[in-house]
Amino acid sequence: MTSIRSTSATAISGDITVPGDKSISHRALMIGALAVGETTITGLLEGEDVLATARAMQQLGAEIEQQDNVWQVYGRGIGGLIEPSAVLDLGNSGTAARLLMGVLASHELSATLTGDPSLSSRPMERVMGPLRNIGAEFVARSGGKLPITITGTGMALPGDETLKVASAQVKSAILLAGLNAQGNTIVVEPQPSRDHTEKMLSFFGADISVEEIADGARRITLIGQPEITGQDIAVPGDISSAAFPIVAALITPGSDLTIENVGINPLRAGVLASLQEMGAEIEILNERDTAGEPIADLHVRASELTGATIPADRAPSMIDEYPILAVAAACAKGTSVFEGIGELQVKESDRLAAMASGLKECGVETEATQDTLTVHGTGAAPQGGVTIASRLDHRIAMSYLVLGMASQKTITVDDGGPIETSFPGFLDLMNGLGADMEEAKQ
Ligand code: S3P
Repeated sequence: MTSIRSTSATAISGDITVPGDKSISHRALMIGALAVGETTITGLLEGEDVLATARAMQQLGAEIEQQDNVWQVYGRGIGGLIEPSAVLDLGNSGTAARLLMGVLASHELSATLTGDPSLSSRPMERVMGPLRNIGAEFVARSGGKLPITITGTGMALPGDETLKVASAQVKSAILLAGLNAQGNTIVVEPQPSRDHTEKMLSFFGADISVEEIADGARRITLIGQPEITGQDIAVPGDISSAAFPIVAALITPGSDLTIENVGINPLRAGVLASLQEMGAEIEILNERDTAGEPIADLHVRASELTGATIPADRAPSMIDEYPILAVAAACAKGTSVFEGIGELQVKESDRLAAMASGLKECGVETEATQDTLTVHGTGAAPQGGVTIASRLDHRIAMSYLVLGMASQKTITVDDGGPIETSFPGFLDLMNGLGADMEEAKQ
């Protein structure tokens, strides 16, 4: 384990980019492997999570090559993956595991999926249930946990599911399974969740439509067995990664930072609206499109933040950003309440508990229920001076390192290793901007 210390920083400034979007990177590799012909990907996130997906797709017969920062995927066509001869290890990545289960569900093969202790403790029944309905079979550890062996079918039925929780991973698994089913696959989601799968399938040539139905719910319809052909994809910077330097700049007086080429898909960008409501000065500049996704440059200046209530209906559009938003709330003046965030309990760690207890250790008053987090900021620098357990969770580790930048005393995270899953180069990038973060081998 490598612990990392973060000590209070003076103003940070610069003009940077952040690594590629994790969600889009996984999808580009998987959909590229299912398309006919060659897919060229630039800006792919070369973090552990996405590399696990690349290895798994290779084990399933896709040819994938990398030269410098250009990745080529030679697709096998829909239904064309082959049975792997070894276990597929998806490391820490819930997206890799769940989306891949969808892909495999409509292939006539068996495969065993495993992951690290964090991934192996996460619920998989939410995706196995709908995939059983189309004909896939599973053998799982008790409680529906990994390792899991899936036996897919070459005669998959088209899915027709109404989801209980807004989960892009479950929605995507059903849609990806539907690629090799005859007929229309239909998914109804209660609230809109990130739509990268829908956008990318359409970009590759699939016939997929999205209708708004009652109360914000959406019905997505995919026509099975489409002809999808390889494409060129430029992956935008990940807003979920950008959120860390953004909050670092906001809470470090005198800071002035520009982050170029960030994905601002409205179903991902809830954190910007939330921070702006807290008084953050964030300008969204040069809005444009790449591979069907909206992107922009973000200009951020240090700001005096105030507490805010973040409503439950915004949760799906910023589900991964609550830990870093809690850091902003800890440095703001006044109380912040995050509503409807029960799903945080089943992420890479129980993030509700990790933020409620870790912030308390740092001297910030917090309260948590099953689905809310309340943070009482005073506007003064939190005490810090503690070591926080990162719980195999990259976003918990990065959140507390950012908090260290604005705390009275150094904050240490016990294990910085998980940061590699989503944000390779985080320490160098932050230190290059003026942060004071340092590795300490234990
Ligand atoms: C993701 C969906 C979200 C998110 C995860 C990435 C995706 O999970 O938390 O980091 O790429 O589809 P849920 O689908 O469980 O909400």
